[in-house]
Amino acid sequence: MEARSCLAIVLAAGEGTRMRSARPKVLHTVAGQSLLGRVLAAVRAFGATSTAVVVGPGQDVVAAEAKRIMPDAVCFVQSERRGTAHAVLAAKAAIEQGSHDILILYGDTPLIDATTLRRLRAPLAAGAAMAVAAFRPSDPTGYGRLIIEGDQLVAIREQADASEAERAIDLCNGGIMAFAGDTALSILERIGNRNRKGEFYLTDAVEIARGRKLKAIAVEVEEDVVRGINTKKELAEAEAVAQQRLRNAALEAGVTLVAPDTVFLSADTQFGKDVIVEPYVVFGEKVVVEDGAVIHAFSHLSGAHVGKGVSVGPFARLRPGAKLGEGARIGNFVEVKEAILGAGAKINHLSYVGDASVGEGANIGAGTITCNYDGNAKHRTEIGKNAFIGSNSALVAPVGIGDGAYVGSGSVITADVPADALALGRARQVIKEGWASRLRALKSIVKKKVHARD
Ligand code: UD1
Ligand code: CA
Repeated sequence: MEARSCLAIVLAAGEGTRMRSARPKVLHTVAGQSLLGRVLAAVRAFGATSTAVVVGPGQDVVAAEAKRIMPDAVCFVQSERRGTAHAVLAAKAAIEQGSHDILILYGDTPLIDATTLRRLRAPLAAGAAMAVAAFRPSDPTGYGRLIIEGDQLVAIREQADASEAERAIDLCNGGIMAFAGDTALSILERIGNRNRKGEFYLTDAVEIARGRKLKAIAVEVEEDVVRGINTKKELAEAEAVAQQRLRNAALEAGVTLVAPDTVFLSADTQFGKDVIVEPYVVFGEKVVVEDGAVIHAFSHLSGAHVGKGVSVGPFARLRPGAKLGEGARIGNFVEVKEAILGAGAKINHLSYVGDASVGEGANIGAGTITCNYDGNAKHRTEIGKNAFIGSNSALVAPVGIGDGAYVGSGSVITADVPADALALGRARQVIKEGWASRLRALKSIVKKKVHARD
């Protein structure tokens, strides 16, 4: 049997005024991914043949995000916001390309997954003209109500147009729909705007299909997968659901999360085997943690690669470009950015290491700072294998410390240190014998004079 082609159309032309933000709604993030990015990731995982994204006028940033996530997606502009059916028809040129199936998704429904999309599409292969994602929200207010007769969907009534009896229906339109490609366009073009809001409702497609003796089916799904975002509160609720899913997936994969509810993950966080994550750890985007690593409490990681058996934290901050070799150790109050640490290298306390490479087995003492920024440009610090940097040293980049070299505590290193050398970059200590008792004697004379005056 020939595989059925599928066009996915993602509606993202909404203004999102209720988010009270200058940022377009679909660019807000859940688990580190934009809402639109998540929807497109689901579309990709589902395996659509082609994808169209409908954006509002002037929303170039939304189109750019779509292209970033899915370079072959085609963006269409809906010049006026005149309803969901009107939005779908903005992508008419894509529909006219002809595909077996068409899936309509919303850019602000970020918890949708490939499994749900497959379930929604299945009735089309069995001869239905339409399938609609149905759900039973705890509060149906505001959603379109599904009117069912037998095993078929006969109409969707929008809240504003529903009768008292229809409003009592608890089965609602989740928004996501599938259309058979051969009848989709003729149905969509029949939709009018004679309703309370004067909008072209995609939901009217059901009655039009029925009028033509075509079959429409409701596919019931979990509320979470069709959860739409309109407000910051709903964004936070979606984040909570996404975090719960990610934590469960991590636990399922064998990661030890000591207090799962306190750990925040990104959609792309990757864990190896036997990783332990202590309470209150935040994983930003693009973090990889290899086998046997331990992330201690209150650490914040983003864009970091944590090698096998590495120990991080507590209270560590790993920023993008931090690459920690096998068995390396990052201790408390250490910040690492754009720096590669060789196997077994240690930075145990209170340090900043940025734009640097640290050779294997090197030991960076407490309070070491790589002074990478001169106020104008960033410079690199190269520290060799088994080098030893004494506590409270400032390494003024660009600078290199050779293999096995020592830097004395409190040094300010401004020039390269050869391998195997000792560098003392600080003022020499001065001793003045008996100086303290001379000071005390001087003080008591002054005191007596003051008393005498009184
Ligand atoms: C829509 C459904 C409703 C369903 C609900 C589920 C219609 C008429 N109603 O209502 O039955 O229960 O979703 O959440 O379809 N959009 C555009 N251009 C437009 C209008 C909308 O791109 O002109 C996009 C929005 O950005 C949004 C989506 O379409 O992503 C849904 O639009 P919205 O106005 O939120 O529809 P609802 O009134 O919530
Ligand atoms: Ca909505």
